[in-house]
Amino acid sequence: MPDRSDSPQPDAEKSSQLVAAAVAVAARAYAPYSGFRVGAALLLASGDLVTGANVENVSYGLTLCAERAALVRAVAEFGPKIRIRAVAVANLNQAASPPCGACRQVLAEFCSPDALIHFPTLENGALVQQTRRFGELLPFAFDLQIKP
Ligand code: THU
Repeated sequence: MPDRSDSPQPDAEKSSQLVAAAVAVAARAYAPYSGFRVGAALLLASGDLVTGANVENVSYGLTLCAERAALVRAVAEFGPKIRIRAVAVANLNQAASPPCGACRQVLAEFCSPDALIHFPTLENGALVQQTRRFGELLPFAFDLQIKP
């Protein structure tokens, strides 16, 4: 998949490693209902890499997306102070898979606006690897402002 020239240019080796990890973990997805197997890989500020895959449920609404699966795993492994530098999302269906809205809001908890998000999109029928800053994907994340 070609890179778009207007995309942010991260460390190319690191980002292709992240995308490869997302593709690899997608093979372990539990997606018997949709058949849409998704993998996500997170690069933490510490340099650690954490992956997750979607886990579906017969009660469809209980399905866990790959991004959130990776995130809960990252917190369990490395604790609540993790920061996410980059995320890669992949699927085994040769289809677009930007992170869904719910996952964007959940990622916002641990991603700053300049974190890089790699994901495939379809453009004129061709699969294209996109990279966007997290702030572009979720410009107005909900934040809890409680008055004292
Ligand atoms: N899915 C993800 O894993 N990540 C997303 O960002 C959106 C959708 C999964 C959920 C479900 O198992 C399948 O893709 C089809 O929606």
